[in-house]
Amino acid sequence: MRLMKIEDYKEIYDLWNECEGMDINDIDESEEGIGKYLERNPSTCFVEERDGKIVGVIMAGHDGRRGTLHHLAVRKSWRRQGIGRALCAHALKALHDQGIKKAGLFIYNDNEVGLAFWKQERFVSHDDYEYYDKVL
Ligand SMILES: CC(C)(COP(=O)(O)OP(=O)(O)OC[C@H]1O[C@@H](n2cnc3c(N)ncnc32)[C@H](O)[C@@H]1OP(=O)(O)O)[C@@H](O)C(=O)NCCC(=O)NCCS
Repeated sequence: MRLMKIEDYKEIYDLWNECEGMDINDIDESEEGIGKYLERNPSTCFVEERDGKIVGVIMAGHDGRRGTLHHLAVRKSWRRQGIGRALCAHALKALHDQGIKKAGLFIYNDNEVGLAFWKQERFVSHDDYEYYDKVL
């Protein structure tokens, strides 16, 4: 496992697009957008490589107070081998090392595999509030 860098972008973008349940769009996930995210969060985003190819990725960042995890994905043929769990552990430790005490994530409520994953990671779901956003 190593830190993600912007040179990984194309390989990671393909991996995200291979995954069901991921919302990849040109606003948030452009190369420029991901580059800015990595500049702001240089020590909390990771990739897992096998045989020189990226098979898993997680992005994590924080606003000084709360951490957020984004776009955890593992290539289909490498799933159920603990890679997702290891990526998550690295990201959470990296956030914790920066003094962050709580982290969360957004997930579509029909992503059954993702929901099973976060549940076993002991993340807690909330059904008493809505998330609002707006394109600027
Ligand atoms: C979610 C995802 C990242 C998990 O990656 P992974 O490397 O397969 O996960 P792990 O092997 O570390 O699994 C850890 C545990 O999560 C749970 N889990 C993982 N995949 C599961 C599945 N298909 N069904 C039920 N539980 C599952 C299991 O408890 C598993 O432990 P076990 O294998 O000992 O039973 C992967 O399935 C993926 O890329 N999905 C598509 C993208 C996505 O939905 N990302 C999350 C969006 S927020």
